[in-house]
Amino acid sequence: MQPLIAPSILAADFARLGNEVRDVMDAGADLIHFDVMDNHYVPNLSVGPLVLRSLVKRHPDVEFDVHLMVSPVERLVDEFAAAGAAWITIHPEATEHPHAVLSQIRRHGCKSGVSLNPGTPLGVVEPLLNSLDLMLIMSVNPGFGGQSFLPEVLPKTRCARALIDQSGHSIRLEIDGGIAADTIGDAHRAGADMFVAGSAVFGADNYSDAIQSMRVELNA
Ligand code: DX5
Ligand code: ZN
Repeated sequence: MQPLIAPSILAADFARLGNEVRDVMDAGADLIHFDVMDNHYVPNLSVGPLVLRSLVKRHPDVEFDVHLMVSPVERLVDEFAAAGAAWITIHPEATEHPHAVLSQIRRHGCKSGVSLNPGTPLGVVEPLLNSLDLMLIMSVNPGFGGQSFLPEVLPKTRCARALIDQSGHSIRLEIDGGIAADTIGDAHRAGADMFVAGSAVFGADNYSDAIQSMRVELNA
């Protein structure tokens, strides 16, 4: 599958969020990663469905990849789907019924994802493969942008790639946390095909150069 680069708006300037989305898409991003934190599942608080709704209204052609680091997830899935999410990813620890929540996401017409923390084993997703459009490997512990990439998640990424290929399903393998030009190559070689990058893009002076330098590594 064609690699996708998804800048995380967590690292954007929230005072001019609509323009940031436009600028980063014009700079060559494929879609926008939208991190939702609740000060409960993770010790940080970000944005909710009202913000997503405004961004979707302003940028109807842009796909938003919503990463829910919240617990419980059930009611917020409905709200983010209604707000216009294209993809919705949950953490399996955040619900007692991950299989049911993934079905709930698909019933809304959204693509469904499960996210694995660095300490969460790959086996958690095996019973869920039929219900998945996306598997997200966290390469940092969730909660904050700007952390360093954890190379110890690479073996799990390789196993996830093998699991997806064996399943015969069309499932994206996303990696999130510490992705930049110096880490994206290893993540790609391990099998990831969708790359979240927050500070590496929004922290750069030139978004286009930052995205291009990652594409160079993907094509190396
Ligand atoms: C972490 C978030 C990530 C994060 C990525 O909890 O899920 O999406 O914002 O930011 P960087 O690329 O700065 O690690
Ligand atoms: Zn994320």
